[in-house]
Amino acid sequence: MITPYKDNKSGKKEQVAQMFNNIARRYDFLNHFLSLGIDNLWRKKAIKCISSIASNPLILDVATGTGDLAIAALKLNPQKVIGIDISTEMLNVGIKKIKRKGYQNLIELKKGDSENLEFDDNTFDGITAAFGVRNFENLDKGLSEMYRVLKPKGKIVILEFSKPRVFPVKQFYNFYFKAILPLLGKIISKDDSAYTYLPESVNQFPERELFIQKLEQVGFKNCSFKPLSFGIASLYWAYK
Ligand SMILES: C[S@@+](CC[C@H](N)C(=O)[O-])C[C@H]1O[C@@H](n2cnc3c(N)ncnc32)[C@H](O)[C@@H]1O
Repeated sequence: MITPYKDNKSGKKEQVAQMFNNIARRYDFLNHFLSLGIDNLWRKKAIKCISSIASNPLILDVATGTGDLAIAALKLNPQKVIGIDISTEMLNVGIKKIKRKGYQNLIELKKGDSENLEFDDNTFDGITAAFGVRNFENLDKGLSEMYRVLKPKGKIVILEFSKPRVFPVKQFYNFYFKAILPLLGKIISKDDSAYTYLPESVNQFPERELFIQKLEQVGFKNCSFKPLSFGIASLYWAYK
């Protein structure tokens, strides 16, 4: 299993929480800077994809981090968006941002583990996740928990990095992701491992058709995906 800190004996979940706690204050800047702003376009696409669900939906954003996807979900005119994450520091940055924007009545961010959700079965009209599922300790458990709390006919939309396959994007991506990004990430985030873990975790993630199989295995129906930006990211969607 790929974990952020090689010499650390604790499990992946603890290490991932520790890593995001370490980089939380610089996460938003690094995200937009290292992706050249494309990350927000991808989030917009994810929200457009889930916009076909019930009106005034109740939305769960898992692995919400600093809440950018939860904020983007306000486009859906939701009754409420609940965002959960295991990293207290990421949530703190998100809670401040949401207060600053005046969205605190519509978005609630709180601590929670996607692999052990505290919600009742069949609670949410829609569930979103951006760049989170790759970090789960137990992917199957996380996906089956998301299935459990989704209402029948509800929709899940997941955004995750993938590996581009076409020339020359593949070659440029490999160079950028394996050489440039870890270096810039290390200097700016001050965490030696976080941006080395990023390409490693993308590399081992069961992407595209393999991820569709995972969604089907936990019970989701009509599962599809679409590569974004030449396959640097992929958007997955499915129904209960
Ligand atoms: C790359 S960040 C993505 C944050 C946000 N969704 C975004 O689009 O910027 C991944 C987040 O997943 C969270 N995470 C990882 N495993 C988790 C789990 N089992 N339950 C909840 N959050 C988790 C991390 O703490 C981190 O904040």
